[in-house]
Amino acid sequence: MKIPRNLWHPLLLSTELNTKPVKLRRFGLDFAFWRDADGKPHAFPDRCPHLGASLSQGSVSNGKLVCPFHGFEFHPSGECAHIPANGAQGKIPAGLACTRYVLQELHGFIWMWTGPLPASGTPAYFPDIAQGFQTCDIAIDAKVNYSRAIENQLDAAHLAFVHKTTIGFGGKSFVDGPYVEASDDGIKSWVANRVDNGTAHIPLSELKQLSTGRAPSLQLLYPAQWLLTISPKMKNIIAFVPIDEHTTRFYLRACHQVRLPVIGYLYGVVLQTMNKIILRQDLNIITHITPVFSVDASNDRFIGADRAIVLYRRWLTANATEFTE
Ligand code: FES
Ligand SMILES: [Fe+2]
Repeated sequence: MKIPRNLWHPLLLSTELNTKPVKLRRFGLDFAFWRDADGKPHAFPDRCPHLGASLSQGSVSNGKLVCPFHGFEFHPSGECAHIPANGAQGKIPAGLACTRYVLQELHGFIWMWTGPLPASGTPAYFPDIAQGFQTCDIAIDAKVNYSRAIENQLDAAHLAFVHKTTIGFGGKSFVDGPYVEASDDGIKSWVANRVDNGTAHIPLSELKQLSTGRAPSLQLLYPAQWLLTISPKMKNIIAFVPIDEHTTRFYLRACHQVRLPVIGYLYGVVLQTMNKIILRQDLNIITHITPVFSVDASNDRFIGADRAIVLYRRWLTANATEFTE
């Protein structure tokens, strides 16, 4: 499948990978994720280069991944370290190795580099969240391509319709702006919706002035880290993780500043309950959009309220290429 390349992609939560290897589908491929003796995460294709066994059924021993079928051992670098049938002095055939992917663990996620090696830069995340917020994570899988899922969260015009019983209550269907800023790192959008009272749109120049000094309502950091500012002390992050062309895993991170242990925990649970209800309203619509990959949607016709979507789609079209093993 096509994904934006040369970036760090969040692929799973740190808490999802413990001492046992796990099989996870990402970018349309099955990976075996595992941790070495130091707890460092690694990922190989979930297929042993010997006779194709599923490496995620194996185990970790002395910092190496051991295949469950014939016991071949693999270094974190992917090279085969030992073939039991050939003995301690035995030869290892040239080229017998797993493809290695470069991972980093940061901000509670495990990230994969999707460009040529060596990897460069660091995963893009939100500095204020990293420093000053309590977080609560949940994951939801849905039958939607990541491109449509991300565009949905940049969409200023759907609130009064899709979310009319929740965050879109009040019939504020008229969209001023949004005022949008794009950079190489992502997109910021200041959303201003109101009830249609027959007056003209507020000019973008005026919206720009109004947005000065205010946090954007929505921010997307490429490739797939999205931040919603509800209030200075309450924010939501979604990391959109491509499982395959038709499936996306949404990692929802509720962020707040209630530091008391039990109350903070319960507060996070309540926020996530609301987030789930709101996301289900979106999924009810976006799991039926065609074509599934927005880059293929050359017939979509945009309106002014779609500014952030247009910028994202332009960026994705320029950067998405086939991810192969
Ligand atoms: S298939 Fe993995 S060791 Fe044989
Ligand atoms: Fe929505």
